[in-house]
Amino acid sequence: MEERMVSGGYQEDDSMELSLRPQNLAQYIGQGKTKENLRIFIEAAKMRNEPLDHVLLYGPPGLGKTTLASIIANEMNVGFRTTSGPAIERPGDLAAILSSLEAGDVLFIDEIHRLPRAVEEVLYPAMEDFCLDIVVGSGSSARSIRLDLPPFTLVGATTRAGLLSAPLRDRFGVLSRLEYYSTEDLCDIVERTADIFDVGIMKEAAVEVARRSRGTPRIANRLLKRVRDISQVKGEPSISEDTTQQALAMLQVDGAGLDHIDQKLLVAMMDQFRGGPVGLDTLAATIGEESQTIEDVYEPFLLQKGFIQRTPRGRLVTHKVYEHFNREVPGT
Ligand SMILES: Nc1ncnc2c1ncn2[C@@H]1O[C@H](COP(=O)(O)OP(=O)(O)O)[C@@H](O)[C@H]1O
Ligand SMILES: [Mg+2]
Repeated sequence: MEERMVSGGYQEDDSMELSLRPQNLAQYIGQGKTKENLRIFIEAAKMRNEPLDHVLLYGPPGLGKTTLASIIANEMNVGFRTTSGPAIERPGDLAAILSSLEAGDVLFIDEIHRLPRAVEEVLYPAMEDFCLDIVVGSGSSARSIRLDLPPFTLVGATTRAGLLSAPLRDRFGVLSRLEYYSTEDLCDIVERTADIFDVGIMKEAAVEVARRSRGTPRIANRLLKRVRDISQVKGEPSISEDTTQQALAMLQVDGAGLDHIDQKLLVAMMDQFRGGPVGLDTLAATIGEESQTIEDVYEPFLLQKGFIQRTPRGRLVTHKVYEHFNREVPGT
């Protein structure tokens, strides 16, 4: 697969992510509202000696959903078990996981929108009443028995809450949307990571990495890693802005933090569809990407940046795109 500097999705070389992961809410930078709410809910649950309500975290890849899930477990002083929607194929798989939980545990299900429907149905009574309905026998002798489960907290993560079935979504007590990070917050994250890497970085360089990271901590850390390599080879005492600019140019990340797929997408919209409107599937086929990837990864950031608009007839590029590519805005 083509290397994607800016995709935000998980890549092979992210294996160091674990060591960069904040361990508690105080170390978790940004996401003020989500953090504040969680802090209160966690404190209240601890006072009542109850597990935390089930939490759904949603937002584009790389914004800190998995990190936050493990922080919730740490802050509650309970065990952390992790799995993912596609990994649970049969109801029995989920039943096995649920019945092995200890009281209070956090069960994290990543990509929860990809749970098979039959599995989802096992989850409903488990979330609501902490019990499992199991069918034993078959045919006319089949009967259902109820097993009690230890109380637990389900933390689900998904790229879009809209991908979840309504009955599942309704069973979460806390729904938190993670937002793209501000440049200031990303700058703090870059400086924190540099600290963990034990390399110095000039303020201007940290700001530049932050500015070009698509509002995404995972991308900021990934870019910093590459920038650090180049700086080290040059023998710099600490990472300079010059080196940062040079590294980002090599990585084909442009001044707005767009990677070559973003660029390809926008250029196709301008050149082949006269700026749109163009349907998602047509666009996906044109640039050779999956519709879902465009919708979950590329589009949210381009929408937030005001580069594209969604209309009932399809996607449109805005005048900002023509300006960004130094082109004349049509009709002016
Ligand atoms: N709020 C944050 N503060 C500091 N680092 C963060 C924060 N959120 C995410 N990160 C970093 O970004 C990486 C990716 O986060 P992750 O939780 O895996 O994202 P997601 O699960 O949403 O794809 C983490 O390993 C962590 O190093
Ligand atoms: Mg994750």
